[in-house]
Amino acid sequence: MRLARLTAVVAVIGALMGMSSWALAADSGSGDADADAAKKAQQERAECLTCHSAQGLQNPPRQGMDLAKLGELLVSNDRLQKSVHADFSCEDCHGAVVATYPHGADARAQVKSCPECHKPMARRIVPEFKDSVHVVAHLPNFTCSSCHDPHTWQKVSSLGSARLTVRQDNAMCRSCHENDARFAQFTPVTRHDLADSHKWLPNPDLHWTAVRCIDCHTAAKDDGGVSHVILPGTKAERRCVECHSANSSLRSRLYRSKVEEAQVNTIGFLNAYILNEAYVLGVTRNQWLDWASVAILALLVAGLGGHGLLRFASNMLRKGRK
Ligand code: HEC
Ligand code: HEC
Ligand code: HEC
Ligand code: HEC
Ligand code: HEC
Ligand code: HEC
Ligand code: HEC
Repeated sequence: MRLARLTAVVAVIGALMGMSSWALAADSGSGDADADAAKKAQQERAECLTCHSAQGLQNPPRQGMDLAKLGELLVSNDRLQKSVHADFSCEDCHGAVVATYPHGADARAQVKSCPECHKPMARRIVPEFKDSVHVVAHLPNFTCSSCHDPHTWQKVSSLGSARLTVRQDNAMCRSCHENDARFAQFTPVTRHDLADSHKWLPNPDLHWTAVRCIDCHTAAKDDGGVSHVILPGTKAERRCVECHSANSSLRSRLYRSKVEEAQVNTIGFLNAYILNEAYVLGVTRNQWLDWASVAILALLVAGLGGHGLLRFASNMLRKGRK
């Protein structure tokens, strides 16, 4: 068993080494093109941001605007920059109605819909979306962007840790389910208190930081992907052992990317890997192994960092000589 675990550690390190040299190679090639697109979009956004930013609100470029309204329409360029849509100018999505101020009458409605750019993805997701509680309840105005803020949404694979994935995902659900004002924009029905709906669950607040709402409110998919069929409370998961057991369903869901990265779920290393992020009761844990793997990783990262610095320095020297 110990030998198997050691092999697993070596396999993970091997994979990390492979990834880092790939990253170095990518830096010098297509990276530049990406950076150019992002820079160009950034310049094009500057015009809109003279008004739609905190600075714009403080120093409005013109008189007589409805500043109270503008205050609710600010877009964070920093967050957009980190989002999946960093390469786009505002007008790529908002079109020409907003090109001049005052804007056209239906400035908000004139935005490109997600499927206009995401055809294959929409073919897979829209039918599921139509079966979800929100659409079945006929909520007017409930769209993809009610959940995904196109100005801030980050690619899950780029978030890095399960904690951050949980935070991004649950923030969207909580932005309505813990906020009367926003909830009321979608339904006249009174909002049920979340803690109250989940009082059968010990410490709901802790669970909200450790698992996604969708880990209970969607059915698991065979391919491990995310389902957009949000289930009502009556069909949601409430069996503790689904997560609190040695073969927790979280392995094939929330922690799926870790499983794929590690590729060692059959030989028992995965638990230690997962549990560096969360201590899930019922899933066994070997603390010494955790510390050992953390120490090895730390050394590895330090080594790679040093290697990167040396390369950088030698590049600078070579450039300097030219
Ligand atoms: C001169 C300041 C100014 C500039 C520049 C500006 N906006 Fe606006 N925008 C506003 C104000 C103020 C509002 C609030 C409602 C109104 O007065 O039309 C608004 C409203 C909007 C709305 C409608 C929101 C709603 O709920 O109705 C959108 C969308 C929008 N702007 C996008 C943009 C985009 C994209 C750009 C850049 C192409 C841009 N704006 C440039 C000031 C500006
Ligand atoms: C990837 C597409 C996309 C990009 C890029 C984009 N927007 Fe939007 N924006 C949307 C969508 C979709 C909505 C509609 C949200 C809703 O009402 O459901 C929206 C809504 C808005 C609103 C209304 C208020 C709100 O937040 O709901 C404003 C103002 C706005 N955008 C301004 C901007 C500005 C300024 C930029 C550039 C800095 C920008 N947008 C870039 C897609 C985009
Ligand atoms: C102007 C075109 C455009 C519009 C409109 C647009 N997107 Fe995107 N979106 C893109 C591109 C290009 C990417 C980058 C693809 C990638 O990185 O895989 C992307 C990436 C994404 C991703 C990340 C994909 C992943 O695999 O995780 C999500 C999620 C996403 N968009 C959601 C939306 C939603 C929701 C809307 C509507 C509110 C929307 N997009 C509107 C062009 C667009
Ligand atoms: C009720 C909220 C909600 C709505 C509405 C919603 N999504 Fe999502 N979406 C999520 C959550 C939660 C995830 C999971 C992110 C993760 O943890 O991987 C997700 C993931 C995604 C992804 C990345 C994973 C994948 O399957 O490729 C895409 C793309 C996406 N959504 C597009 C859309 C589109 C398009 C729509 C509208 C038809 C939409 N979403 C509507 C909540 C929502
Ligand atoms: C834009 C606001 C909004 C967002 C975001 C949102 N919801 Fe909702 N949700 C509602 C409203 C409004 C209802 C009430 C529908 C009704 O019964 O009239 C609802 C209903 C539900 C219900 C059904 C409750 C029942 O009666 O059983 C569930 C479950 C639910 N939402 C889960 C989620 C999850 C999980 C997410 C995130 C992936 C989410 N919601 C995101 C607004 C939202
Ligand atoms: C551990 C599993 C689990 C998690 C995590 C979870 N839910 Fe639930 N949820 C349930 C179950 C089971 C019910 C049904 C409870 C009942 O009827 O007694 C429910 C009920 C609900 C209801 C219906 C409330 C009502 O009274 O009609 C809403 C809305 C809801 N959940 C939203 C959410 C949101 C938002 C999140 C994330 C912050 C979340 N849930 C996380 C399992 C879960
Ligand atoms: C969707 C998966 C999931 C389900 C279902 C679930 N849990 Fe959890 N639970 C977790 C995770 C993940 C944590 C780890 C939190 C952390 O990081 O400390 C946790 C933590 C806990 C804790 C530790 C709380 C503390 O204060 O330290 C208890 C107790 C617990 N769960 C009990 C339950 C019970 C009882 C049920 C069934 C009624 C249940 N859980 C259902 C995922 C789940």
